[in-house]
Amino acid sequence: MTHEVSDSGSSADSDDSGDWRGWREATGAALYGPSGFYRRPEGPAGHFRTSVHASPLFARAVARLLCHVDEALDRPERLDFVDMAAGRGELVTGVLTALPAEVAARTRAYAVELADRPEALDPRIEWLPEPPPGITGLLFANEWLDNVPVEVAEVDPAGVARLVLVRRDGTERPAEPVAGAEADWLTRWWPLPAEPGLRAEIGLPRDTAWASAVASVARGLAVAVDYAHTADARPPFGTLTGFREGRETAPVPDGSCDITAHVALDACALPGARLLTQRAALHALGLTGARPPLALASTDPAAYVRALAGAGEAAELTAPGGLGDFGWLLQPVGIPDPLL
Ligand SMILES: C[S@@+](CC[C@H](N)C(=O)[O-])C[C@H]1O[C@@H](n2cnc3c(N)ncnc32)[C@H](O)[C@@H]1O
Repeated sequence: MTHEVSDSGSSADSDDSGDWRGWREATGAALYGPSGFYRRPEGPAGHFRTSVHASPLFARAVARLLCHVDEALDRPERLDFVDMAAGRGELVTGVLTALPAEVAARTRAYAVELADRPEALDPRIEWLPEPPPGITGLLFANEWLDNVPVEVAEVDPAGVARLVLVRRDGTERPAEPVAGAEADWLTRWWPLPAEPGLRAEIGLPRDTAWASAVASVARGLAVAVDYAHTADARPPFGTLTGFREGRETAPVPDGSCDITAHVALDACALPGARLLTQRAALHALGLTGARPPLALASTDPAAYVRALAGAGEAAELTAPGGLGDFGWLLQPVGIPDPLL
């Protein structure tokens, strides 16, 4: 997506130079400031559907993953499940419902979220602004890292990658050349050829955020699930975009819409991590989207209809070109990879 780039500073409304900010700061204020997009009462589900909202099968698959982690940990007395960037706690609620009673009885459930705790949330769920230390179990971050604000770089007519500044109305202008750790990150993870107009999102804050979340796991597994790209196929113009009420919009950092950019998950990976598609991960967790046998339609029509609906939902969660292409970054800590 592109939008107007003003580089002259001479337009009628450019004397408010204090309004220009890097995309990272502008997005941080627009999403998480006092009246930011994610503070709104309707929550993320009011504006877009994640896998969590698409089907309860997703929470069931995550519950199955938690059971695998439980086995790898030799069934500890206290098993932690951390829903990182929990929205309104929909995933952790679904996971608690789906767990076998014996495992649920040993599970401590946490929702980590910047927004306020919803009133009607299951009282067994602890609501925290950051992950608890010493997690023994599973930390699961669905669509968190794409909302960790990042700077944007764009190649200027001379072939130099410059930081992009933005105003509250979404107008952009180029600033100083990218330097220091941000330049190093681009060189390592997203080299920009000297072709004017090429853009990249500088994923450094996401790498740091993910490393810090993983550091809160003492033993177990951390999983980040997101729209992702890897070094062999970076999008030439980046993926910065907005979402409002179910529709993609221009990314305007005024608090009126979500602002998101796909995640360079390969850059986030720490040693020992594995990156796979959601399709492969859900298949490994037993969710295939296979249709029920036709014979069931005559022996138990109601069961057939239920199974058919489930197959449709599983197909959506694993669809090529859709949710199935999401990346799952598996980061085992002190246990073997439970999906191998
Ligand atoms: C796209 S929503 C995903 C919600 C939920 N995980 C799901 O899949 O439906 C992103 C959420 O991340 C939260 N968030 C962003 N940064 C966070 C942070 N550092 N700590 C906790 N929550 C965060 C936002 O408030 C928002 O609710």
